[in-house]
Amino acid sequence: MKAFVETLAPGGEEWRLASQLDPDRLPRHVAIIMDGNGRWAQRRLMPRVAGHRAGVSAVREATETCASLGLEALTLYAFSMENWKRPRAEVETLWRLLRQYLRQEHATLMDNNVRLGAFGRLDALPSIVRDTLDETMAACARNTGLKLNLAINYGGRAEMVDAVNRLINEARLAGRLDSLVIDESALASRLYTAGLPDPDLLIRTSGEMRVSNFLLWQIAYAELHVTETLWPDFRRRDLLRAMVDYQTRDRRFGGLKPVLTMPAALEEEDLLSEIVAAPAR
Ligand code: FPP
Repeated sequence: MKAFVETLAPGGEEWRLASQLDPDRLPRHVAIIMDGNGRWAQRRLMPRVAGHRAGVSAVREATETCASLGLEALTLYAFSMENWKRPRAEVETLWRLLRQYLRQEHATLMDNNVRLGAFGRLDALPSIVRDTLDETMAACARNTGLKLNLAINYGGRAEMVDAVNRLINEARLAGRLDSLVIDESALASRLYTAGLPDPDLLIRTSGEMRVSNFLLWQIAYAELHVTETLWPDFRRRDLLRAMVDYQTRDRRFGGLKPVLTMPAALEEEDLLSEIVAAPAR
């Protein structure tokens, strides 16, 4: 963290934001819904695909920043199952861009010690994209730093359906289908994200207040940060702002803040039993 702050211009906004961060309370896993590419392009009277092209630099910058901060994982929503509904030319451009990204960013991923992963229904990807993805993942497999996950042809509901079907198939093969009982840990360990911590922070760009079928199971307790900034404009400064915002949150995971001292807690308990025992008036 200290090393990261030292790379920033002293007194500048990024430096100020990074200096505010508590290195012991950084999110382990950040997930991002990269939205607003089309609007970014339309505002410049450019074709929508120009926005996707411009979005690639934001992907690079977010990856480098998360790697420099020492985060464990960054998951990017690159292509949803619903994105097939877009015009064919746009879908094809997205595949072309993804391939270009994988080939061009290989050096950046290695320099930043990034491991690359991908999840979603990957079988449906054009085979040429799938091959480039497999090659890049293999090349980065020995890296030990940030795990960058690309969610491609991904849907949160489909992921859960796939996990349940895996459990059913495993039980059938083991001859114990009749006694199959599914619990949370069994399901979580069959999700595409098995082995990753759940995202602590979910960022969505372009101001939309939706989760759009992204990591539905895993974001149960994620902190949400929605920014009006469109994805191609999302810079290191914006990511640092999101982290500062995250650190202002009081994460209780459904419990209570540990503010009550023991005697105070006992007093509360006594009070509660008095209320419960009091005759109704
Ligand atoms: C949403 O913006 C964005 C996408 C559907 C694709 C995201 C793709 C990239 C950022 C580029 C390639 C990705 C990688 C990982 C290299 P939108 O088109 O829905 O924007 P709009 O809501 O303004 O129309």
